[in-house]
Amino acid sequence: MTVIPVLGGRFAPYDVVVGRGLLAEAGGRIAPFARSRTVIVTDETVAGLHGAALRASLEATGVRVEIIAVPPGEASKSFTELERLMDRLLGLGLDRKDVIVALGGGVVGDLAGLAAALYMRGIDFVQVPTTLLAQVDSSVGGKTAIDTPRGKNLVGAFHQPRLVLADIDVLATLPERQVRSGWAEVLKHGLICDEAFFDWLAGEGASGAGGDPVALQRAVVRSVQIKSAIVGEDEKEAGRRALLNLGHTFGHAIEAELGFEEAALAHGEAVALGCCMAFRYSARQRLCPIEDSRRVESVFGAAGLPTRLGQAGAFSAEAMLARMAGDKKAEGGGLTLILARGVGQAFVSKTETPENALAFLKEEGAA
Ligand code: GLY
Repeated sequence: MTVIPVLGGRFAPYDVVVGRGLLAEAGGRIAPFARSRTVIVTDETVAGLHGAALRASLEATGVRVEIIAVPPGEASKSFTELERLMDRLLGLGLDRKDVIVALGGGVVGDLAGLAAALYMRGIDFVQVPTTLLAQVDSSVGGKTAIDTPRGKNLVGAFHQPRLVLADIDVLATLPERQVRSGWAEVLKHGLICDEAFFDWLAGEGASGAGGDPVALQRAVVRSVQIKSAIVGEDEKEAGRRALLNLGHTFGHAIEAELGFEEAALAHGEAVALGCCMAFRYSARQRLCPIEDSRRVESVFGAAGLPTRLGQAGAFSAEAMLARMAGDKKAEGGGLTLILARGVGQAFVSKTETPENALAFLKEEGAA
C-alpha cells in the first residue's frame, strides 16, 4: 500500500491511498470524516459489484449508510441527474457533518463531487474510484462537472476530496477495453514528465495494460504522484496543470465529432490517439525528434490502443479544427496545444496557428 499526499497551498491536504483490498478496510479510513452519516453515490452496475462490501465496511464502524445509485453512463452527468441527486440528498436531511462517498468511475466521481460542492455550499466527499481512468486521473485534483448540450464538463466546480481510496483489486472486474482505455492516461503521465516511467510502462510494466495487478499498482502510484505534484502547484489550471491535457485537444475534437459515443471510441482511446497526434505534430514542427514520435506510436499500439486517425473513422479537417478552436482550453487568437520536445518533456504552446493545424489534420488523413 502506498499513501500519496496531495498538498496544495490553497486547499486542505488529503491522501490518495493506493493498494489492494482497500474496499474491505474503507470504513475505518472514511469514518474520521463521517461524524454521523455517509451517503454512497454510485451507479447501478458498480452498486451490484462493490456496494455491499463498502456498505458493510462502513457500517462496521458504526456509521449510518445510505446508497444512491444513478444510471451508468455519461448521460448521468446532466442537470437532470444532478437535480435528482440533490433532491434525494435533501430528502435524507444530510448536513455538513455528513460525508458523500463517490464509488465508481469518472461519471460518478464528477457528479457526486459536484453535488458535494453544491450541497449546503459544500460538504466533504471521499472518492473511491473503481476504474483505472478514475484512479489515475479524475478522482485526484478536485475537478467536478456535468455536461450540457453545448459541451462536456462545462458546468462544474473545483472541490477537492478529503480522501481518495484506489483499490487495485476492483480493477479485476473491469472489461479489458476499459483497462486499456485507462492505460492511455497512465502512458500520458510518463509522456508529460517522466521518461523512465514511460520506458518501464513500455517494457517490464506493459502487462498492466492487460490487467496484471502488480504492474497496475505501480502504474497507478506513479501516475498519482505525477498528477498530485502538478495539481499541488496549480489547482485551478492557471499554468502547469494544462499539461495534464496532453492528447486531449485532438482527442476531444475526435470524441466530439463522433458524438461522444463510447461504443465508437472510449475516452482513453481518444486520448491515446490524441497523444500520438500531439507527438506527430511536435515532430512536424521540428520541436521533437521523429524517433520519439515513432516510439510513442509503437508503445500505444502495443497496448492495443488506436494511434492513427483512420482507426477512429472519417473526419473533416475543418470540422475538427473548429472543435479544437472552440475547446474551452483555447485562448486568444492562437490555438492552445500541449506539445512535446521529447518523451517526458511536454509543454504548453498557446501560439499554434490554425493554418499549421489544418495542414497537419489533412496529413493525418482528415478530408
Ligand atoms: N484531467 C485533467 C486534470 O485533472 O486537470
